[in-house]
Amino acid sequence: MASMSGKVIPTPPDWRKRHPSTPSLANILEYNTLYEESIRSPETFWANQARDLLSFTKNFHTVHTGSLENGENAWFLGGKLNACFNCVDRHAFVNPDRVAIICEPDDPADESQTITYGDLLRQVSQAAGLLRACGVKKGDIVTIYMPMVSETIVSILACARIGAIHSVVFAGFSADALRDRIQDAESKVVITTDEGRRGGKTIQTKYLVDQAVQECPTITNVLVCKRTAGELVLTPGRDLLWGEELKKYSAYLPPVPMDSEDFLFLLYTSGSTGKPKGVLHSTAGYLLGAAVTGKYVFDVNCQDRFFCSGDIGWITGHTYVIYAPLLLGCSTVVFEGTPTYPSPTRFWDIIAKHGCTHFYGAPTALRLLKRSLTKADISGANIMSLRVLGSVGEPISPEIWRWYHDFMGDEQAVITDTYWQTETGSHIIAACAGVTPMKPGSASLPCFGIDLAIIDPVKGEELRGNSVEGVLGIKHPWPSMARTIRGSHDRYMDTYFNVYKGYYFTGDGAYRDHDGHYWIRGRVDDVINVSGHRLSTSEIESVIIEHPSIAEAAIIGVPDELTGQAINAVVSLKTTQDIESIKQQLISKVRSAIGPFAAPRRILVVEDLPKTRSGKIVRRILRKALSGETEFGDISTVRAYKQFDPSLDLLTIF
Ligand code: WTA
Repeated sequence: MASMSGKVIPTPPDWRKRHPSTPSLANILEYNTLYEESIRSPETFWANQARDLLSFTKNFHTVHTGSLENGENAWFLGGKLNACFNCVDRHAFVNPDRVAIICEPDDPADESQTITYGDLLRQVSQAAGLLRACGVKKGDIVTIYMPMVSETIVSILACARIGAIHSVVFAGFSADALRDRIQDAESKVVITTDEGRRGGKTIQTKYLVDQAVQECPTITNVLVCKRTAGELVLTPGRDLLWGEELKKYSAYLPPVPMDSEDFLFLLYTSGSTGKPKGVLHSTAGYLLGAAVTGKYVFDVNCQDRFFCSGDIGWITGHTYVIYAPLLLGCSTVVFEGTPTYPSPTRFWDIIAKHGCTHFYGAPTALRLLKRSLTKADISGANIMSLRVLGSVGEPISPEIWRWYHDFMGDEQAVITDTYWQTETGSHIIAACAGVTPMKPGSASLPCFGIDLAIIDPVKGEELRGNSVEGVLGIKHPWPSMARTIRGSHDRYMDTYFNVYKGYYFTGDGAYRDHDGHYWIRGRVDDVINVSGHRLSTSEIESVIIEHPSIAEAAIIGVPDELTGQAINAVVSLKTTQDIESIKQQLISKVRSAIGPFAAPRRILVVEDLPKTRSGKIVRRILRKALSGETEFGDISTVRAYKQFDPSLDLLTIF
């Protein structure tokens, strides 16, 4: 536990002086007092926050009903509000010329684009008019398959404006994965671009949408935003050009007041079983989680320029590219490209160019940059605007933490490691910027209203006190928790609430150190984390096993210096054939069923997989063997099996 002892790094002395106004918290004592209040009287705490940070058109009469046991939580009942109004109109009325969105294109030679709150109000109104004209009604689900461009945000907010539920599908998913999600959501409309640009390469978004919708009978319209000058084939009667259509609609369309509990969006994520889960978030609760964490964790001020490098196709982009910055009325930076194109100084260039006050990214990108850069490479960049650096998606090692702090932030910015999930909607463990003592490698302390428990995984009992390790649960409902899984409330209950009765189960292991700081250990289920992408081992296994030559398969997450974990597949064959060509077929099968990011890095062919006497694959042994370990623990219950054939691949275990 030596590296977990946690030496505290102080906030830079003049950090507060560089703040444009008053920080959201004065000091850690204020955090402690407010945190205690939020746990002692959650309803009072959340009601005060909701009144302070959100605009309701009708006041709520009941703050909360429901329990974790029964999984039927509802917040701010009786209240009416509109998410788009909260993100756009209320700022546009007061300060129409303030910049809402800064778009930084993939190629730095292309011009960046700024959209003011006034412009954004016009654009979302017109887009909402177009969606209505396409027959989209309150409660319908619109699928959005877009790269990181301003129209993605406009589409999302336009859905919210008319009470439609947005379902964003990450543009790295394959046509088949997109098809499955459109079918599950029964969307009438999908919004996309002709193409996308990323790291100097072209992404064929429209082509993939065309493939996907061939098997989606519910689709009546495909709305296409032009991003490149590439050739575009439109299907008459179905495909409409975004830019041309938008002109036909009024520059103001009133937002539709929604019930607090009406769904705002659907977002698919991987679970421990094969089928992706469509996680549904409510309107008021989700928005409040975004606003509260934006305010206290990131200390966002309306004059800030917030740069979150996460993709809008995942929860990080939803909450911290769009909702948190716009709810708090600051400017959000939407970056189309990659950290290393055209050079590994790109993030610094963007921070300097736009005067960003916040940068929020994943350790996987930091590891890559650490490897490629020296201090001299970035010595000319003026990043004095930077106050806060956020980390998300996977544990950040103390070594990378220090590099982030000393090198990327030039020792001027504070770091907050933010732990959360698609299902939690917003941060649940994170340092409040400039206030919480920073310990490299620890996600630090719980966010307001989050009552954490470390649970003994075997006994199912809470482990009280400090210096305890177990699985991480939450003891009390909070507003931004997901409300259900589309079409499968039972699965929602079984995954999160029935594992340890009375707790929300995160699926992660955690350690609470001697002074109450949390250290996330990673998943304890079949979910793996590759470059911050959350993937289900069983989802990939079910694709591989469909191959006619494969007898059995196990997907294993193996520690990787760059990507956190790397996907390895261990397979046995039904027939001995050309192994190299089978491996290639398996890789292309996964690429087309899920997406390139899910393709195994390494495929090992073995004669037989290690199994228990009852036939269950013993992944523990594979995980250890693939990580280069030679101690396998107790293997007395493992059925004797044929030795791995070293001529087939590199492993020999017994
Ligand atoms: C992991 C991403 C350690 C964790 C926001 C969680 C983290 C899963 C951290 C959720 C962090 C996320 N430290 N692990 N700061 N943040 N995780 O739904 O295993 O894509 O359960 O949400 O990522 O992934 P998801």
